[in-house]
Amino acid sequence: MASTNCKKKLAIVYASVTGNTEAVAHILEESAKSAAADTTVWRVEDFPLAELSRYDAVLIGTYTWGSGEIPKEMRDLFEAFENLQRKELVTAVFGTGDSFFAEFCGAVNRFRDMLYVHTSLAATLKIELMPQDEDRGKCEKFVSLVLRKTEDKVVTN
Ligand SMILES: Cc1cc2nc3c(=O)[nH]c(=O)nc-3n(C[C@H](O)[C@H](O)[C@H](O)COP(=O)(O)O)c2cc1C
Repeated sequence: MASTNCKKKLAIVYASVTGNTEAVAHILEESAKSAAADTTVWRVEDFPLAELSRYDAVLIGTYTWGSGEIPKEMRDLFEAFENLQRKELVTAVFGTGDSFFAEFCGAVNRFRDMLYVHTSLAATLKIELMPQDEDRGKCEKFVSLVLRKTEDKVVTN
């Protein structure tokens, strides 16, 4: 089960082909670890879906494919959240995209809309292609919103 009062247990689960989303995942990992969260980073192909409930928060990272679509390798994770029945699980979604396309980071939008219904969504973050130095502040804020939401849970439960 997820922890209630000690170090928060975070999973960062991402898909990445050319490395942009993976780079964001590792910046978020650094931020989370410096905020003393117990953080594990997973490529989505390696993530054990059955363990979703072990975490206080799950941060999902996705690139966008086709015309604003979720990549194929993210579909099982998407369905797992739809079927999880654990509305109190804190989630957040981040992604990289290319604003050349009509729907910038469309996959982030699709995850956001689903996670808002099925989980306790803390934050979203969209980054243009490879993260730059100026994106680090946004990443830190994203992580702090997630951690704050896990604290809210403790207060309100
Ligand atoms: C065929 C194709 C379709 C894409 N469609 C979109 C899109 O609809 N919206 C968007 O924001 N980015 C789109 N992208 C851009 C990628 O999402 C972007 O390059 C992303 O940073 C790749 O992430 P990765 O390096 O983690 O694989 C597309 C890229 C390709 C090759």
